[in-house]
Amino acid sequence: MPDHTRPKGEHEGKVALVTGGGRGFGKAFGEALSARGAHVVLADIDGAAAAEAAAELAARGASATAVTCDVADEAEVGAVVHGVAERHGGLDILVNNAGLHAAYNRPFTELGLAKVRRVLDVNVMGVIICSLAAREAMKGRAGASVVNISSSAAYANRSIYGVSKLAVRGLTVSFAREFAADGIRVNAIAPGLIFTDAVRAELSAAEADRVLGEQILRREGEEQDVVEALLHLVSSRASFVTGETLRVTGGFALSV
Ligand SMILES: NC(=O)c1ccc[n+]([C@@H]2O[C@H](COP(=O)([O-])OP(=O)(O)OC[C@H]3O[C@@H](n4cnc5c(N)ncnc54)[C@H](O)[C@@H]3O)[C@@H](O)[C@H]2O)c1
Repeated sequence: MPDHTRPKGEHEGKVALVTGGGRGFGKAFGEALSARGAHVVLADIDGAAAAEAAAELAARGASATAVTCDVADEAEVGAVVHGVAERHGGLDILVNNAGLHAAYNRPFTELGLAKVRRVLDVNVMGVIICSLAAREAMKGRAGASVVNISSSAAYANRSIYGVSKLAVRGLTVSFAREFAADGIRVNAIAPGLIFTDAVRAELSAAEADRVLGEQILRREGEEQDVVEALLHLVSSRASFVTGETLRVTGGFALSV
């Protein structure tokens, strides 16, 4: 549901880089930020998906471009950030969203070392590589903000996926400390089970029922629930918030 109380041009003149922007949350984040005036760069290892998503946004009058990029590849990420800084003069919002998930949320013995290593490369090193690459371009820009996408799996560890998303929570605090002097806030969102196309295709009905059974709120989470959290964290309304992970889970695996 669009929020009509929010000013349309809230992010006018800002530049946002969204990793994994070709589909799912990334595409929805790009849509929401560009609808509020930001120029959005959708970076995805699947360049065709990113190009399609950017074209969709542009057709609706938004300002969006696409770039092919593996977040685990330092050289590729460096080139993307360099290109953004050169073309737009800097970067205001970084959303570290790209991640390997459902298919990797399995026991170590089933996954094997190569896949375990790849999850850590993408979900953990990807956040580190993109954050470090973006720092200079974001430094000193009013309202500069990084949002990392963790997961409810970080609170109910069952696999390397949960461990990788627990690391994202830790990195969020580390980077919040390191980037504060540059005026950059760093926060995370830990979404619960949200039925993006990929999750709907990959998750078994039994697993979906198990998660829903552990929620306090009995409805399914929607992409828009996570988009609203992002819009809050990157807004001036969250200017005193840094190092936090905001759970958007319907109360999944909640404990004190
Ligand atoms: N959907 C959920 O229920 C859920 C819940 C909690 C957390 N998350 C997290 O949210 C993020 C997005 O999830 P989604 O459901 O939208 O996934 P998705 O699979 O629909 O989209 C992820 C996108 O990231 C891209 N990507 C994958 N590896 C990449 C890489 N190395 N470099 C650049 N791009 C890459 C994919 O090509 C894809 O377009 C992930 O980090 C995921 O772990 C999702």
